[in-house]
Formats: sequence, C-alpha cells, structure tokens
Amino acid sequence: MAGVKLEGLEKSYGATQVVRGIDLVIEDGSFVALLGPSGCGKTTTLRMIAGLEAPTGGRLWIGDEVVSEPGRGLFVPPERRRLGMVFQSYAVWPHKTVAENVAYPLQVSGVGGREVASRVEEALGLVQLGGLGGRMPNQLSGGQQQRVALARALVMRPRVLLLDEPLSNLDAHLRVELRQQIASIARGLGMTVVYVTHDQEEALAGSGAEVWVGGASGVTAGAEVEVMWRPSWLELASEGAGEVCGVVEEVVYLGDQQEVRVRVGEAVVKALVGAEVPVARGETTWWRGREARLFGV
Ligand SMILES: Nc1ncnc2c1ncn2[C@@H]1O[C@H](COP(=O)(O)OP(=O)(O)OP(=O)(O)O)[C@@H](O)[C@H]1O
Ligand SMILES: [Mg+2]
Repeated sequence: MAGVKLEGLEKSYGATQVVRGIDLVIEDGSFVALLGPSGCGKTTTLRMIAGLEAPTGGRLWIGDEVVSEPGRGLFVPPERRRLGMVFQSYAVWPHKTVAENVAYPLQVSGVGGREVASRVEEALGLVQLGGLGGRMPNQLSGGQQQRVALARALVMRPRVLLLDEPLSNLDAHLRVELRQQIASIARGLGMTVVYVTHDQEEALAGSGAEVWVGGASGVTAGAEVEVMWRPSWLELASEGAGEVCGVVEEVVYLGDQQEVRVRVGEAVVKALVGAEVPVARGETTWWRGREARLFGV
C-alpha cells in the first residue's frame, strides 16, 4: 500500500487557475475526506492523483515515487500508478454483465483467464455481491450498481482507492450503509482512501475510523482525558475485565476478520477481531485495549 503527498499542486485551464497550490500528506492506510463546495476543485485534484489530469505546477508523490512534477516534465501514466478510482457518475457498463464489468480492468492489463475469474469473485465477495456476477446492471438496485463500480476499482488491488462522491446517487439509508462498508473494506485491506464529498456529515463519518470516548484509567487521578483506540487494538475480554463495556450494535464480516461496532453510551467503538471470535449483535461485551492513545481535554 502507499501514502500520497501533494506539494504545492496546481492546475490551470488556460488562464483559469482551478487548483491553487495544495499541500497535503495522506498517510499510508489512512482514510482522508476532501471536503468542499461544488466547483472548488475536488474532482480535479482526485483526477490529478489518478493521473487522468496533468498538474500545471507542484509535485505529487505516491508512496516514495514522484508521479507528477511538471517542472521536470515528469508524468507517470495512470495505468502505472496502481490506483483504483470510483467516479462521480459511477459508469457501470450497461451492456456487460456484473462479472464482465469487474473483469475489464484485469483484461486490459493482461491478467490471464483463470486468475481473472478468481479475482472477480474475490472482489464481488468483498462488496457483498458474491453470486451476482452473471446479472446485467439493469437487474441490480442503485446501491448494488454502485458496489459493482467499487468492485471494479478493488479488483486491481490498488495501493490507493480514490472515490469521487461515490454515494451521491443513493438514498440516505443506503448511503450510510455503503459508506460503512467502504470504510470497513478499506480498513480490512489496510488501503489508503481519498474520499471526495461536499457533504460534511459524510466526510466526518467516512473518516471516523477513530472514535473518541470520554473517561479513562491509568492517568493522573482526577485528570479528564479522551481515549482513542484503533479497531485492531481492542480484544474481547471476559465479563468485568475490560476498560470498555457496551452492547454490540453490528457485526460486519470481512473475510478472516470481523468488525464489531459496540455502543458505549453516546459513542460507538469499533473493534476488529478474528472471524472465529464468538460475538453476536445485542450482546453485552467487555473489551480490553492492547494499546490506547490518551489526550488531555
Ligand atoms: N476542462 C476544463 N476546462 C475549464 N475549466 C474546468 C475544466 N474542468 C473543470 N473546470 C473548472 O474547474 C473548477 C473545479 O472543477 P471540479 O470538477 O474539480 O470541481 P468539484 O469540486 O469536483 O465540484 P463538484 O462538487 O460540483 O463535483 C470548476 O470551476 C470547473 O468549472
Ligand atoms: Mg466533482
């Protein structure tokens, strides 16, 4: 996987400058939302990262490689950047089956027949469309079509996933559900995600992989702190033995792991545990942090 770094990145169309010197470091494995009003340059920025637009100034890194630097005439083409992108209009091809849609990027890059089938099945499984490969897109719901587009981006096992308002065509309920699924899949794969939206709530929820909870032990008596656990830091404890106690709200299977969402008062704490760990919705559970970050408030 890889991080992304923008150094003074600029884009002009003729005399019109639409992106004015962006500096941004996106850490490897993080989920970053680019938020801003219509026309502010979000899509343009994402397309520059993807290599679909050439910047007119600055420097762009993916991992430890400079992929665009107009000052030196340097430009790595999109197919060599190993990124996945889901476009604002998600553009599933209507005349291809679901499996053919997902297989397409593999075929273009010369991956062989037998591997195509297994990787398509794997990608469809990730977005919970296993078994629907033979359907035509018009036999799917809007949310399912959106997930086909996501599978088509995931099938290349990208280092970075670029999502441009991927949920804007969906109703509110589906948006919440799919947003959680995207965040879970990305975390499960340790993938860097750049998520463009003009919706502030969506930006916060998408990048809310880390949850803040009030109260903690192990610091100076009387001090009030906030505690942060990454999902992979929490493990299931026996009754009464952990720092966190709450009711399981949701369990999402991610292959060999499961993401458990635990309601603790006002907050929801997420934990990532092995698929073999017995945990059920509605159950009261105790969790111990192998590691935690404390912040003074
Ligand atoms: N090919 C082009 N030629 C000239 N101007 C362009 C071109 N493409 C985009 N622009 C302008 O660049 C600006 C940024 O466009 P961009 O598509 O990046 O916006 P955005 O932030 O993604 O907006 P939205 O939220 O509406 O999708 C806009 O003002 C747009 O009109
Ligand atoms: Mg846009």
